[in-house]
Amino acid sequence: MPAAEHSSLATDNGIPRHIAIIMDGNGRWAEQKRMPRAFGHQAGVKTVRKVVEHCGNLGVEVLTLFAFSSENWRRPKDEVSLLMSLFIETLQREIDTLDKNGIRLLFIGDRTAFPSALQAKMQSGELQTQNNTALTLVIAANYGGHWDMCQAMQQITDKTAAGVLAPQPITPQLIEAHLSTAGLPDPDLFIRTGGEERVSNFMLWQLAYTELYFTPALWPDFDDKAMDDAILSFKSRQRRFGHTGEQILNKTITLTT
Ligand code: IPE
Ligand code: IPE
Ligand code: MG
Repeated sequence: MPAAEHSSLATDNGIPRHIAIIMDGNGRWAEQKRMPRAFGHQAGVKTVRKVVEHCGNLGVEVLTLFAFSSENWRRPKDEVSLLMSLFIETLQREIDTLDKNGIRLLFIGDRTAFPSALQAKMQSGELQTQNNTALTLVIAANYGGHWDMCQAMQQITDKTAAGVLAPQPITPQLIEAHLSTAGLPDPDLFIRTGGEERVSNFMLWQLAYTELYFTPALWPDFDDKAMDDAILSFKSRQRRFGHTGEQILNKTITLTT
């Protein structure tokens, strides 16, 4: 029997390879301070900077941040345009710093719905940082788990119809190869701030065996200590992937997701 293989799921010191975060609670944070929701979103950007830096220092390989969901278009027009401008400004301001720190930037989600200037910025940010190897920062923007699965199926049917792909059984591997996260490990740790305990259409396929962590902390208040607490909780879990606890302890199986 092969020995248990943990290396694909966490780094040697138990730090998750991939952390995916639903950054929730900006609006409530501002409302508690009797400030407009925009103030909360601005504070949320500061938290993003700190979290990216902290994850880089911890040796996390991939950090995925849910910035705008495919359902967030339902918000009042003013809030949507505020979020768009904040997105453009932040990208413009931070890209060189990210690059200098060896961070590779990727975007997942349907970017065709964004203003063309923003789409261009997203693409140039990805190109500028494509060879960086320190941390992969994935920004989920106009992302939805349903969208991701639909676009994967669409690619498979289109390629098959065009004769690029031979007709074949649909397998998890075939689907994964066409998801927006193709080539990235699945998240090991999912964090949602803001107290809601739901997934809100985030990475539905990829979260199959992810450890879930919910905290009442509102996103602008989520600091290094809060991240360390989430990782501590992750380290205390026994991931079984369908095996028994004994199999895991005896290291008689190879763990794969
Ligand atoms: C998360 O904070 C940010 C986005 C969805 C863009 P919210 O804006 O959802 O904050 P709450 O949940 O209303 O407090
Ligand atoms: C999820 O938060 C989306 C992002 C954080 C970008 P929401 O605030 O939109 O989620 P719901 O509507 O409360 O489920
Ligand atoms: Mg919310």
